[in-house]
Amino acid sequence: MELNDRNPWQRKAARAWGILCLAVCLPVGSEARNVCLSTPNTSLVLDVEQGEEPKYVYYGRSLSPLDVENIGYVRNCDQPAYPAYGLDCPYEAAFAVRHSDGNLSTQLEVCAMEEKDTGEARTLSIRMKDKVYDFYVTLYYKAYRDVDIIEAWSSFRNEEKGEVVLGQFASAYLPVRRGDVWLSRLYGAWANEARLVQEPLRPGMEVIQNKDGVRNSHTAHAEVMFSLDGRPQEDNGRVIGAALCYGGNYKLRVNTDESEYHHFFAGINEDRSSWHLGRGEDFTTPPLALTFSSEGLGQASRNFHRWGRKYKLAHGDRERKILLNSWEGVYFKINEEGMEAMMSDIAAMGGELFVMDDGWFGGKYSRNSDKTSLGDWVTDRRKLPGGVGKLLREAEKRGIKFGIWIEPEMTNTRSELYEKHPDWIVQAPGREPVTGRGGTQLVLDLSNPDVQDYVFGVVDGLMTKYPGIDYIKWDANMGILNHGSHYLEGNRQSHLYIAYHCGFEAVCRRIREKYPDLTLQACAQGGGRANYGVLPYFDEFWVSDNTDALQRIYMQWGTSYFFPAMAMASHISAAPNHQTFRTVPLKFRIDVAMSGRLGMEIQPKDMTEEEKEMCRRAIADYKTIRPVVQKGDLYRLLSPYEGLGAASLMYVSQDKAEAVFYWWKTEHFMNQHLPRVRMSGLDAEKNYRIRELNRIDNQPLPYEGKVVSGAFLMANGLELPYVHQVERNRKNAYSSRVIYLEDAGD
Ligand code: DGJ
Repeated sequence: MELNDRNPWQRKAARAWGILCLAVCLPVGSEARNVCLSTPNTSLVLDVEQGEEPKYVYYGRSLSPLDVENIGYVRNCDQPAYPAYGLDCPYEAAFAVRHSDGNLSTQLEVCAMEEKDTGEARTLSIRMKDKVYDFYVTLYYKAYRDVDIIEAWSSFRNEEKGEVVLGQFASAYLPVRRGDVWLSRLYGAWANEARLVQEPLRPGMEVIQNKDGVRNSHTAHAEVMFSLDGRPQEDNGRVIGAALCYGGNYKLRVNTDESEYHHFFAGINEDRSSWHLGRGEDFTTPPLALTFSSEGLGQASRNFHRWGRKYKLAHGDRERKILLNSWEGVYFKINEEGMEAMMSDIAAMGGELFVMDDGWFGGKYSRNSDKTSLGDWVTDRRKLPGGVGKLLREAEKRGIKFGIWIEPEMTNTRSELYEKHPDWIVQAPGREPVTGRGGTQLVLDLSNPDVQDYVFGVVDGLMTKYPGIDYIKWDANMGILNHGSHYLEGNRQSHLYIAYHCGFEAVCRRIREKYPDLTLQACAQGGGRANYGVLPYFDEFWVSDNTDALQRIYMQWGTSYFFPAMAMASHISAAPNHQTFRTVPLKFRIDVAMSGRLGMEIQPKDMTEEEKEMCRRAIADYKTIRPVVQKGDLYRLLSPYEGLGAASLMYVSQDKAEAVFYWWKTEHFMNQHLPRVRMSGLDAEKNYRIRELNRIDNQPLPYEGKVVSGAFLMANGLELPYVHQVERNRKNAYSSRVIYLEDAGD
């Protein structure tokens, strides 16, 4: 639609949008055209004029039609919507290209605007053209009708005579007004993923980035929150949240220069990734999901969770099964008898799924360690004489489902696949490849369509042969350590990182089209694939290879800022823990695992009958609270990062009729004074019956079975004993509570 067609645009917009509107209005006495895009509680206003560069006017709490009309007078932001490099050179740019004749400058002006209604959302696209070159940039803003998320991204089209090279290509830019703005972000490492860090934004450049090539969330995360009113608070203050929906290398930049703004840019990491766009070609960036909350970080998280469950995660409307995964129980020592015993144990404890992890495959080479066989996805009959088919039948007999581990993007130098296709690996041409895990692992080159077909074939082959497979744990234990592709042409080697992820997504799409019901877990040496780029294809992710319950409190807390509990695989494991060697009592391990997607990562045959019974009861109770944990709203109550000796959070069902409260002591000292935790998110008018789950104390809590108002619980919380009342020989340094609240009626 051409912008000079002003009245029809306004009329059409007003008719179509009502109060959740995309309204175009014209402040009196000005030629500015403010376009307002709204979600239930937020508004984004852009100034879009034909022949001009579009500008940001406003992003925040939703505006009334009156405010939209007059924002032209009171607005204080006139930052470009998408700063292009070349005419305001000293400033950071969202976008920089080398045009076909070598010119490095770009000047964009609006040439058209369009809206598209898909029912769930309305998408505004603003098409711009370079003033001189036949080069087009389109900005997209997709506002969801029922969740407070606006996705923003960009696309480029080259109509010049020759090739254009994209050097910088952010998905989106957002100016954040300076003041006392704090940034909350996640950082970490293998076995210590998603640690929360919160700091005020200072002058200079903050860069959060990933260059792994395959996994992108071990070290830093592509999601952030800006608290606009000082030190981040859970329930108060304005917050802008941003999550880049991309599984590959990313770069988030916050530039605090001499202006009134923190300039936030988010997109694919352009380092060693310049993209050559041939004449007539397009390139589209991944979306940046934005949310705004006027009720602190907590509401911003709930906004992400609702959107995640409804629109991003695979099967976000489905409750997840309770599973036992074989890894920490047997590692590579897979055999038929062992697998069947584990299946019997999880079935007896009430679990619903058994997953056979690494070590089940290999033809010429047996997979007895991490040094061989990736790529040879045939059942190792030396270990499993009856094959996967037999295991499926055994699972069925026990009334549970069966899942299997694969790592299809990878190979080992000792594998039949590598012997057959040495040119399928990511490798710098002419160089010996640097190897990864086990000293022999290599990454397959997913930019190559033959490799894509092969990787799809791994899943397709398994599913065709064994249609009963219910769940696949898809692992990825190596990054791109060799920049090079045998498939990409010499002058396209810089496409590798991006082409890898395009290839990966293409494979995922094919899998989802053919196997829509399959449950897929994104595992990447632990939490390397916790991002909204992969979640449309995956049901959940493995938060970390570290299953230590105490450290998991910190990691799952950080993860909860952006991802809903149903996506966080959280397993009960052995004591001493296999990563930290900490001996954490089973009660505490269960109480932590039950705050996410509950599973087990343990050898049941090493458990006592009493321990199995405890897990059996916990699994039964988890089935009761599962809808609340997995589909309810999260309220974080006491952060472990505050260092106050305890951590606490709760989930509340959408109708507020049920809630589950968790409390874990994170330190243990004598005569300690822990804060009494007030609850949140309940209905003040409702009365709730209190029931403790996983009780180990000899006496119930004094308020067990009593009914208390939501108003009281939110104003005062409950007094929790600091230690468990058990026999002296059972006492230990840990203490935790899980309390289920149910509407008791009037
Ligand atoms: C790394 C994963 O994170 C673990 O859970 C396990 O599946 C191993 N890989 C298997 O090699």
